[in-house]
Amino acid sequence: MKLLHLDSSVLGAASVSRRLTSEIVLRHQALHPGIEVISRDLAADPALHLSGAHLAAFQGSASEDALINADLVKGNAYMYELFAADILVIGAPMYNLSIPTPLKAWIDRIAVAGQTFRYTAGGPEGLLKNKKAFIASTRGGVYSAGSPAAALEHQESYLIGLLAFLGVTDVTVVRAEGMALGPEAKEAAVARALEDIAAIAA
Ligand SMILES: Cc1cc2nc3c(=O)[nH]c(=O)nc-3n(C[C@H](O)[C@H](O)[C@H](O)COP(=O)(O)O)c2cc1C
Repeated sequence: MKLLHLDSSVLGAASVSRRLTSEIVLRHQALHPGIEVISRDLAADPALHLSGAHLAAFQGSASEDALINADLVKGNAYMYELFAADILVIGAPMYNLSIPTPLKAWIDRIAVAGQTFRYTAGGPEGLLKNKKAFIASTRGGVYSAGSPAAALEHQESYLIGLLAFLGVTDVTVVRAEGMALGPEAKEAAVARALEDIAAIAA
């Protein structure tokens, strides 16, 4: 069994989403002794933004740009790691109502027609099967259903939609929101998220 662990917060040791992904990984290690974990710190080592040079390479043109070539190798590794993983653990803080750009850059490499989804006469079909995903969602404000800012939530909803588009529909969100609403609110929300993690079953 393999687990792919992605972090995207820029806050390093102060990051709540990193704490939550690390606890989710520990929980899976307890549930599945021997599980292989591959970790990617997308904030520390991001892929480049997609460019014309990338698209030309995807279409078979040889690139002589060492930076692009190294980045293409990284994108291929992202894809292999995703295909191999049974479980995805995605650290996804809300940045400007959506996800951090390094996480989007990862998505731009793995959402590839013919590999992770395909177009059929009946519409698009996700090609990733039998994978579970866990999203560690953190945000400064409150955007849960029913809250005044709910319509501005383009972080969890985007990720859940994207994963479903690729065929991953077994998704669990572990959420700590209201991180900017004072120490007590933050502590209570993190404690609830940790309880949710402790309750994850095999
Ligand atoms: C660049 C940046 C943009 C942010 N944008 C939002 C936002 O749009 N809405 C919000 O509620 N919180 C926002 N926040 C607050 C973070 O979501 C919050 O601090 C969260 O805990 C970050 O996750 P982390 O602790 O794992 O880094 C932003 C934080 C940063 C650093």
